[in-house]
Amino acid sequence: MRRKVAIITGVNGQDGSYLAELLLEKQYSVIGLVRRSSVNTHERINHVINKEGFMLLEADITDPSSVNAIVNRYKPDEIYNLAAQSHVKTSFDQPNFTFNVNTLGVLNILEAVRHFSPHTRFYQASTSEMFGSNFTKAIKDYPCTDKPRELLKWQDEATAFSPNSPYAVSKVAAHNLVDLYRRSYGTHASAGILFNHESERRGENFVTRKITKYVGELDKYRKKLSGFIGILTDAKVPDYPTLKLGNLDAVRDWGHAKDYVEAMYLMLQQQKPDDYVICTGKGRSVRDFLDAAFKSIGITDWSKYVEIDPQFYRPCEVEFLQGKCDKAKNVLGWEPKITFEQLVERMVKYDS
Ligand code: GDD
Repeated sequence: MRRKVAIITGVNGQDGSYLAELLLEKQYSVIGLVRRSSVNTHERINHVINKEGFMLLEADITDPSSVNAIVNRYKPDEIYNLAAQSHVKTSFDQPNFTFNVNTLGVLNILEAVRHFSPHTRFYQASTSEMFGSNFTKAIKDYPCTDKPRELLKWQDEATAFSPNSPYAVSKVAAHNLVDLYRRSYGTHASAGILFNHESERRGENFVTRKITKYVGELDKYRKKLSGFIGILTDAKVPDYPTLKLGNLDAVRDWGHAKDYVEAMYLMLQQQKPDDYVICTGKGRSVRDFLDAAFKSIGITDWSKYVEIDPQFYRPCEVEFLQGKCDKAKNVLGWEPKITFEQLVERMVKYDS
């Protein structure tokens, strides 16, 4: 049987590595694209690089010649575009770079597909950041609920975008291009509006991994210490450096990346291309994440370990993201499997 061919841009990122594993399991030939770098960036994909069916190529989606050549040569069945400048705060400092990769990069791939491989199905990594400050609010739908008001708001496919960062604006532009190519040229292009998804492979400058790295290190240190003094109390370990964070009140809907790449795959198996919100449906604050992470190593009062540092605040913040993914459930048959508690526990354990 002929193996399907999929290209994954940004294959060495968190999502790229999980998706490569999934597609290899499904007997795809996977072509992973990475940008040239003088240092090794393969940490997350070392375990798949030598697997049968996997090929690593250097390419840069901001360079149309490089994209055209690869799409023309391999004419893949599917392209998953996961390459991005994905850090929201960085996008305020490097807006041009962010736009080049996140918007023009997408345009380059869509054009390559249009000219050289129109049968290729395309997945674009859109994001809940596109909603920015906007949400949909239920008042009439839930008249008798005892839930607090703030739990009765969410974002789904019908919620209008209101981007709050250069990153989010660049992603909205790319999202619109996907829709335009679908309508203009019949491109099988789908966009996954993914809410925050984390894992043991998450980059260390995102808040979840920053927290679990710290908590994991602290756990190791306390265990070493308890070997000497034999106690593990809630009292702060003397002279231990603090964890410096920004806005602790921001709410995010955190799921596990391994679940989310399955949704990407399912989107490209549909007859019709479309956009789907992918989330858990439960928003939690950064404070909640801190609670869960510290609790997993037996600390209930983390206030002595955490310090607010204004450098981690953003010029414009997204305060509340909580998705509703009924469409993905109904059409794709997709649901997240890993709970928030399991996610935090897995990340802390990995870092301990
Ligand atoms: N990174 C970071 N570092 N964030 C902090 C910190 C800190 O020290 N302290 C508080 N935060 C807050 C941020 O202000 C934000 O409200 C929240 O923690 C989450 O920040 P990130 O983990 O950096 O993720 P993000 O929500 O901005 O963006 C992620 O999710 C998007 C999907 O909604 C990224 O993965 C994006 O690429 C993705 O599109």
